[in-house]
Amino acid sequence: MKYSRPKQAVKKMLQKGRLRYLAHTDIARFSRYAALSSFDDDYEQAVARIMYNVHALEKGLARTADRRLGFGSKALSNLNGALRVYRRKGYDPAGFAWVEGLSVIQRYLELHADHGHDVSFLAGIIDPEFLAPPAADDFRAAGTKVISRGDKLANASKNFYELAQGRSAVREFSGEPIDPDKVLRALDNATKTPSVCNRQGWRVYWTEDKALAGQVLAHQRGFGYPELPEVLLTITVSNNTFLSPVERNQGFVDGGLFAMSVMYGLEHEGLAAVPLNACLYDRAQRAIRSLLDIDPSEVIVMFLAVGAFADETVVPVSDRRSPETFVRRR
Ligand SMILES: Cc1cc2nc3c(=O)[nH]c(=O)nc-3n(C[C@H](O)[C@H](O)[C@H](O)COP(=O)(O)O)c2cc1C
Repeated sequence: MKYSRPKQAVKKMLQKGRLRYLAHTDIARFSRYAALSSFDDDYEQAVARIMYNVHALEKGLARTADRRLGFGSKALSNLNGALRVYRRKGYDPAGFAWVEGLSVIQRYLELHADHGHDVSFLAGIIDPEFLAPPAADDFRAAGTKVISRGDKLANASKNFYELAQGRSAVREFSGEPIDPDKVLRALDNATKTPSVCNRQGWRVYWTEDKALAGQVLAHQRGFGYPELPEVLLTITVSNNTFLSPVERNQGFVDGGLFAMSVMYGLEHEGLAAVPLNACLYDRAQRAIRSLLDIDPSEVIVMFLAVGAFADETVVPVSDRRSPETFVRRR
């Protein structure tokens, strides 16, 4: 009787009602707490806005292909606004984001001074207090660093912590071909990723066709480098693998864990990679689904662009907060 069609139809209706309620609570939490406007000025919101712009500027500083000096005026202006909010609210003047924000401005000034490029326009968008060089030497937090291909040769014999600490998102590839078996080995290893009740709902769309990858990335809008990846992996999870409304976000969890496993595998194999977001509005989402023929049951979790390391690559420092800033002991 439990499995009779009418009983299951009632159960499904109830579950859909629960799903609607839970999705509504998701929306309520997100719309109440996300930093959707620059007037959202709680501590974490101000920090997020600073870090978002610090990251944009670090990427500009790291860029060697197609760099236009004087870049980033929008990010600089937004950073200035976020630093003002942080200062007005009296948040910690030694805090991680504050130091990152002030130091990225210094790195910007240094780079342009090194190239003798005029940045007088900054006086119109950055407050004098933020432009003045911070006194302490330890204001070197944000900026760039160099990754050498040579350092990656021993990756297969590094211990796990060395490997994890040495990984960086690499966006500028050498353009040399890569061995697809290495990518396959990374995927094979990533099958060991845990998933809810071992359901392994992930799917991977593998694109070696650079023209196709270029079209996908044009809709993704977060890559923007002339050298396209040798392999573009699109990671999705099928909602067919879930049984209950409380699992509605599980695809992003399982797919995210899986993607991280793949990234460590790629690093182990000595391949360069950058994770790319799938935060897509409807039109881009539909275009990518159509380009890759993605099944409608699947959520697109993220992309991984994979290529070969150049001899040297400049990358953002992407400094990290220490555990004591985010661990809450109860
Ligand atoms: C889910 C996800 C989406 C990302 N999306 C992008 C992206 O669209 N473009 C990009 O250049 N980097 C993207 N990144 C890379 C992050 O900027 C990078 O991982 C972060 O700054 C930390 O730097 P690291 O990976 O070098 O340690 C993404 C990372 C993740 C995890």
